[in-house]
Amino acid sequence: MPHYFNYELMKQLNGDKQMKDVWKLPAIAPWEKSCAKHPTQKPLSVLTRLILASTKPDAWILDPFTGSSTTGIAANLANRRFLGIDQETAFLEISKKRKLEIENPTTAALYKEKISGFNDKAEYSLFLNSEPDPEINVALGFYRSKELPDIENKNKFYFHAIEKNNIVQDFPIGILDAKILFIYSGGRSKASHFTGYYANIKNVVLKHKSKIKGKENSETEFYYEVELESNFMKNKNLKVELNPKSLLEDGGNKNIELFKQFLPASTTFKKVLAANFLTYI
Ligand SMILES: C[S@@+](CC[C@H](N)C(=O)[O-])C[C@H]1O[C@@H](n2cnc3c(N)ncnc32)[C@H](O)[C@@H]1O
Repeated sequence: MPHYFNYELMKQLNGDKQMKDVWKLPAIAPWEKSCAKHPTQKPLSVLTRLILASTKPDAWILDPFTGSSTTGIAANLANRRFLGIDQETAFLEISKKRKLEIENPTTAALYKEKISGFNDKAEYSLFLNSEPDPEINVALGFYRSKELPDIENKNKFYFHAIEKNNIVQDFPIGILDAKILFIYSGGRSKASHFTGYYANIKNVVLKHKSKIKGKENSETEFYYEVELESNFMKNKNLKVELNPKSLLEDGGNKNIELFKQFLPASTTFKKVLAANFLTYI
């Protein structure tokens, strides 16, 4: 699994200079000991920084020597999942109390305000807000490998709409809510794979061919025009074979059928992360 390091955030936290490997953060504060103190309990600020530097949202974090679970509290406050192990039940009791404490949204919000190591009070929550929500819908769009060299100049993408008896079929999926478009290639005789190209979606509109320049003579009447926030960008780590079953599981399997026909299919950012461990974008 490629390792992950959020260089930009670390730089931002260090006055816009590369983060050094010696960190100065305040000692553990009294509010961090509200559920009794573990003898070698670490400050939340330290674990928060480690977690933000090295994981993506929704990641699983394991601390096999968890003590009072500072790692777990920092993980859960930053929308990561956590598993902790300790040989002392007394320490696991402190861990459980700490976890119960942050199940209260007001306490969680208060603790987030108090974690040090940021330039100002709002920086941590602003950063969490800018991380992609793992549950957001993302769209998967097909592009022929041989046409890929052109894609970087484009800031629009078209999906054919399905028509039956002159009625445009609603896609059974979250294409209209999708926030990121990932481009894949392959298909038919070859396995499908991510090409590395992606873009954030600004808007998705259903359009008739006559309204789309260059599509006047197309045999398909309706298109979804996906307006992108910028041109396509390339993430070289996105070179993974797509397994429609794990990525597109959707009860009725309609998504998988669409995917097989190169029609727009959508999934969640969480599934893409899980399937690919892609470098966070
Ligand atoms: C340095 S403390 C961790 C403190 C923790 N980071 C915190 O903030 O509370 C190390 C923990 O590892 C536990 N431990 C040591 N050897 C272990 C073992 N073989 N299996 C499980 N836990 C162990 C100890 O009980 C202790 O709570």
